[in-house]
Amino acid sequence: MKKFIEITDLTKVFVSGNEEIHAFGPANISINSGEFVSVLGPSGCGKSTLMLMIAGLLDSTSGKVEFESKLLKEPKTDIGIMFQENTLVPWRTIKANIELQLELRGLKVKDYQDQIYNILKSVSLEDFADRYSNELSGGMQQRAAFCQTMIHDPKIILLDEPLGKLDAMTREKIRADFQKLWMVKKPTVIFVTHSIEEAVQLSSRVILITPRPGKIDREIKIDLPYPRDLNVKRSKKFINYLTSIHEVFHKYGVI
Ligand SMILES: Nc1ncnc2c1ncn2[C@@H]1O[C@H](COP(=O)(O)OP(=O)(O)O)[C@@H](O)[C@H]1O
Ligand SMILES: [Mg+2]
Repeated sequence: MKKFIEITDLTKVFVSGNEEIHAFGPANISINSGEFVSVLGPSGCGKSTLMLMIAGLLDSTSGKVEFESKLLKEPKTDIGIMFQENTLVPWRTIKANIELQLELRGLKVKDYQDQIYNILKSVSLEDFADRYSNELSGGMQQRAAFCQTMIHDPKIILLDEPLGKLDAMTREKIRADFQKLWMVKKPTVIFVTHSIEEAVQLSSRVILITPRPGKIDREIKIDLPYPRDLNVKRSKKFINYLTSIHEVFHKYGVI
């Protein structure tokens, strides 16, 4: 039986002039509906390249990406994407930025007013709905960008180091907010990060990628209860996951 998302023999080789850069693969990844999968690997191993191919924004050199057994040919509308740079526009308020997502997808803004309030409340931004994005701190902007990504209830969410630029405390807060949202809506998430702790805290499964050209070293199922709060993070099991992943990357000399 094919899984919800099937990635088969996916490879990317960039060609510029006479030079070929083997950026990623070949790799096979199967993902069930509702899974939270982290893709963890060192800088330059091809994580962003993989995400762009999954999103249908970059052609693969070989191999394929299938969603519910259908071949991906163009960006799908039921995918929510969030990369490191947020896409809030400064001339719209936070609420109007979220509405922009709906407009772009041809959805009726007035049908979503309650959802907009609720999702802003879930990340403690309900009092900032009418502020412009540049009046918010970096962390608040990132939380607003999460709302933008989630508002149309995408079945699949692709996140490429969305918290990369934030300070540790803000990252922690957004992780917790995002975990709560995921637990309620259960979208299928593919989350790229280079933070071992972030991957173990959030995911049901972590896929470890080797240095470039990125291949799968191994997959680790994270068998810990949600929500993964401070108590879980202090547990022996959590720390054991961190240590064993650390050892894998240490073997490659990247940490
Ligand atoms: N458009 C491109 N043209 C040529 N090389 C690229 C391009 N995009 C990425 N690369 C190269 O592919 C490799 C993987 O990049 P990337 O997927 O961004 O890695 P990561 O996200 O894991 O840091 C790097 O060596 C990078 O320089
Ligand atoms: Mg990247």
